[in-house]
Amino acid sequence: MAVGVFDSGLGGLTVLAAAQARLPEVDFVYYGDTAHAPYGVREPADIEQLTRAGVSALWDSGCDLVVLACNTASAVALRKIQEAGVPQGKRVLGVFVPMIEALTERNWGDNSPPREVDVKHVALFATPATVSSRAFQRELAFRAIGVDVEAQACGGLVDAMEEGDMILAEALVRSHVDALKRKMPNPQAAILGCTHYPLLEDVFRDALGPEVKVLSQPQIVAASLADYLERHPDLVGAGAPSYLTTGDPRRVSDRATQFLRRHIAFEAA
Ligand code: DGL
Repeated sequence: MAVGVFDSGLGGLTVLAAAQARLPEVDFVYYGDTAHAPYGVREPADIEQLTRAGVSALWDSGCDLVVLACNTASAVALRKIQEAGVPQGKRVLGVFVPMIEALTERNWGDNSPPREVDVKHVALFATPATVSSRAFQRELAFRAIGVDVEAQACGGLVDAMEEGDMILAEALVRSHVDALKRKMPNPQAAILGCTHYPLLEDVFRDALGPEVKVLSQPQIVAASLADYLERHPDLVGAGAPSYLTTGDPRRVSDRATQFLRRHIAFEAA
C-alpha cells in the first residue's frame, strides 16, 4: 500500500516532494481537496468533516498510513480523528509536532518535561484557522518554556496561490511579514506553518531578513516520516502512485506542474 498524503489543495505537494526525495522507494498517493480549498477560512467543524472525508478516501483506496500535509487540518482535526478511533491497521499523522520538535531540538518521543530552549521569540505564519486553534502554542507549551510566539494569520495567501496569482501572493507575504514585525520586531525564528508557504519561502526569507532562522517544514516532515517508517516497516509497501483532486484535474495539474517544475498529472478523486 502506498502512503497517503492529504492537503486542502496544492500545498501538501511541498511535503510530498520532500518525502519523495527522501524516500525514493516509497510510493505515495496524493489527495488534494481542491474543491473545498482554502480550509483556513472555514469553521473547525467543517475542516474536521472535510479532513475526515479525504483521509477516509485515502484509507479506502488502500493507504494504511495517511499524512495530513496540511497544518490547518493537523491543528483542527487530527486530534479529533485520532481520539474517535481509526479503523484497525490504519494510521494518520500530522505535520505540526515534527516542526515543534525541530524548533525545540527534541527527538521523536522525548516526553520529558518542558524546558528552556535557545529560541525565545518565534514568529508563526499560518492560516486564520490554524492561528485561532492555538494548537501551535499548545504543542509548544508541552515541550518548551519561556518562548514568546507571535502569530500572523495570513489571510488571502492560500487563495492567491491556488489561483496561481503569484504576484498577489508575493505582495501578501510582504505585507503579512510587515504586520508581524510591527508586533515582534526581532523574531529569532519563523515557522512557515502552512504547507503552501514553502512555495514562497524565498520571499519570506527576503522579507524577514538574514538574521531570522526560517524552519522548512517539508524537510522536517520528510525526515520525521522516514524515521516513523523505519519504526513501522509494515506500513510501507508497493502501491500505484497517483495524484487525486476533488477539483478540475486539468487546472490542478497545470498549477502543480508550475509549482514543482515537473510534469504532474492529477486525476479526479
Ligand atoms: N496547506 C494548508 C495548510 O498547511 C492550507 C490550508 C488552507 O487550505 O487554507 O494549512
